[in-house]
Amino acid sequence: MNNILGVFNGKFQDLEKIKVSPLSRAYTFSDSVYEVIPFYNNNIIAFDKHINRLSNSCDALNIKTDISLCSDEILHLISTSNHKNGYVYYQISRGVDALRSHMYDTSLEVETFGYVVNHAFESKDLKVSLCEDIRWQRCDIKSTSLLGNVMSMNQSKNNHCDEVIMHKDDEITEGGASNVFFVIDGNIHTPSLSTKILPGITRELLISETKQNGIFIEEGNYSVNDLLRAESIWLTSSTKGLGQVIEIIGHDTKIQVNNEVFHKCNEIFNNAFLSG
Ligand code: PDD
Repeated sequence: MNNILGVFNGKFQDLEKIKVSPLSRAYTFSDSVYEVIPFYNNNIIAFDKHINRLSNSCDALNIKTDISLCSDEILHLISTSNHKNGYVYYQISRGVDALRSHMYDTSLEVETFGYVVNHAFESKDLKVSLCEDIRWQRCDIKSTSLLGNVMSMNQSKNNHCDEVIMHKDDEITEGGASNVFFVIDGNIHTPSLSTKILPGITRELLISETKQNGIFIEEGNYSVNDLLRAESIWLTSSTKGLGQVIEIIGHDTKIQVNNEVFHKCNEIFNNAFLSG
């Protein structure tokens, strides 16, 4: 953890030097929201969309903050880092609460924290497992309360997988830290936006960028069986870009590793956001 640039409550310093109160509600209640903002070749990918989502997450939890200050800090972290490619992690918590009361006091001072790291945006082939989505019912909020994801992803890691694809009862929701796309008979599908999934920014960018290239992605409700008959599956996120699924552990699938539709979408995405 050498020389990672961080910012805590407006003060820029080495990540290691930042001291946080254990009574921060980020610790005691996971009462905090976050963003992961990627940049490639010094260009920030979809900055405004990340700031908007951060602001929506704060609104959903009634965390009052000056979003323009947060956005300035994120820009400062990126411009002063020596990295060409990387991302900023930025978190906003409701603040330090000496009473540890479930019912928070609205006068608490919001606590902000961020850091910037180097990251290589390499497309990685993924082995995944399927699991029941055990998370809460507001997965559209980018909250740091991620224990459902953490439990499922670590179980999947024990099975030598890189990710999970979750389903609520039989309905496909999303990956542990990504959104899901799949191809059946040449047509691309992805679960519709709802409170069951995070409105992924990579998902949104891919849908609009492919549309401009004459490729239509259908958003709908899909079952585990739909996924299992797909000829291609991929996961999207700000840190993965598009990651192709090559195996679903424990299931026979029709996945073709050299699927044309996947490669076309990956090329469109990379040309638009990860080139130069
Ligand atoms: N996670 N769904 C979940 C549950 C996620 O955690 C993420 C991203 C996504 C994809 O969203 P986006 O395309 O906006 O990154 C979908 C980030 C990268 C993380 O938690 O590190």
